[in-house]
Amino acid sequence: MGRLVVVSNRVPAPRERNQPAGGLAVGLRDAVRGTESLWFGWSGRHTSQSKDQTPKLDTHESCTYATIDLTRSEYEHFYENFSNGLLWPLCHYRIGIINYKRLDYQVYREVNALFADQLAPLLREDDTIWIHDYHLFPLGAKLRRRGVKAKIGFFLHIPFPPWSVTRVLPCAEEMLREMAAYDLIGVQTAEDASNMNSCFEANNLPARAAHFPIGIDPVEFGEQAVRNVMAEEVQRLHASLRGRKLILGVDRLDYSKGIPERIHGYETFLNRYPEHKGETVLLQITPVSRAGVASYRALRRELDEMAGHINAMHGNFDWSPIRYLTQSVPREVLAGFHRIADVALVTPLRDGMNLVAKEFVAAQSPDDPGALILSSLAGAAPEMEEALMVNPYDHEGIADAIHAGITMSLEERQRRWQALHRDVTQNTAANWADRFLDMLRETERQE
Ligand code: F6P
Repeated sequence: MGRLVVVSNRVPAPRERNQPAGGLAVGLRDAVRGTESLWFGWSGRHTSQSKDQTPKLDTHESCTYATIDLTRSEYEHFYENFSNGLLWPLCHYRIGIINYKRLDYQVYREVNALFADQLAPLLREDDTIWIHDYHLFPLGAKLRRRGVKAKIGFFLHIPFPPWSVTRVLPCAEEMLREMAAYDLIGVQTAEDASNMNSCFEANNLPARAAHFPIGIDPVEFGEQAVRNVMAEEVQRLHASLRGRKLILGVDRLDYSKGIPERIHGYETFLNRYPEHKGETVLLQITPVSRAGVASYRALRRELDEMAGHINAMHGNFDWSPIRYLTQSVPREVLAGFHRIADVALVTPLRDGMNLVAKEFVAAQSPDDPGALILSSLAGAAPEMEEALMVNPYDHEGIADAIHAGITMSLEERQRRWQALHRDVTQNTAANWADRFLDMLRETERQE
C-alpha cells in the first residue's frame, strides 16, 4: 500500500507534545501514527514572497511533515477573511455576519493553487491523498489540473448547510464544481451529508458525501485524566472549590460555541434556583482564537463584560460564581480538570462534532461520574443521546439542565455515563480514519 498524504491548513509541530486545540489535529495524529505518511500544510510562519519557496521537510517517526510559508497578505485574505470571516459563519448558519469580497476569494483560490504547486512534486502515484477542512475546498481540483491521478478524499470538520443557505455564497456553484473533483467527501453527521449532497444535486453534480463521525483516543485521554488528578494545578483547583460543585466549559473563543448563551443560562440557573447560590463554580476556559477577525474581537469584549456582570451581581466577598479564563491550559491539565468536574457544559449553537463532550466522558470516573449537558445542535448529539440534551438558545432549558445535573442521583449518572462511554470507546479517532480511508480506497474514480 502507498503512503497516506494528509493536507490541512495547520500542521502540528512534529515533536510538540502539546498540540493546538481542535478536532483536526487530535483526530489525525492517530491516522498518521505508524503509517508511512506525508503531512503537508502551512507552517504558521509568514514570508515576504511565497511563490518560489521549497517546502521545509521534517521527518518524525513514520511521518514527514512538509510545510510552506504564506505572506501576510495571503494570511489575511485567505485565512482571516475568506476562510474564517466567510466560510466559517456560512457553514455555521450565520449568514447575517458573512462578509464576501471578490479579492478574498481570488486570494483563497491562489493559496489553494500555491498548495497544489508545492505539493504536486512531492506526490507518488500510489499515494492516497486526504485533504482537510474548508480552507482547502478547491485543492483537489487544482491537483487534478496538475495531473495528479491518485485517489483524493476530503473531510470537512465543521457543519455543512443545505443549498438554501449555501447558495447565499456568490461563488457557491464554482466551489461545488471544484469539490466534485474529490473521490469521496466525509462529513461529521448524516444531516451534513444530506445537506452537501443536496447542494451537488441542485447543481447537477453527482453526490459524493457520506458521514464519518470523528472520535478521540479515549484510553489515552482517560489515562491522562487519572494521572493528572494529582497534578499541582488540578489539586489547587480542587482545594479552591471548598466542596462546591465544579461546572466546566472548555471552548476556543468562538461565537459558534454559544458561550454568551451558556453564561446567560448559568445566570438564569442562579436566579431560578437560589438555594444553590454559593454552591457551584462555573470554570469557563476559553483560549483566544482568530483574534484578527472582527467578530471574534467583539465576542471577547462581550464575554469580558458578561463574566464581570455575573460576578458583580451574584457573587459574594468569598464566592465568585464564574471563573472565566482566556489563556490556554495544557491538554494534560485539562484532562485532570475534566476528571474532577461535576458537570460539563457543552452548548455550541452549531458544531461539526465537538470533541470536548467526548473528552469529558473519557476523563470521568466510573465510580462517581459527572453529568454531561450537551447541545442538540452539536454534531456529537446523535451519538450521545444519554447526555442531558439542551437547545443552546433556551437559557431556561440550560438552567434546568444544570439543576438536573448537580442533583442527579449516582445511579442515573452511572447509567448515562456507561452508555456514553461505550459509544466514545467504540468510535475512536483511529476507527474514524480507517473507515474513511477504506471507503476512499474502494471508491471508483468518477471522471
Ligand atoms: O475544526 C475546525 C478548525 O478550523 C480546524 O481546522 C482547526 O484545527 C481548529 O478549528 C482551530 O482553528 P484555527 O486553525 O483557525 O485556529
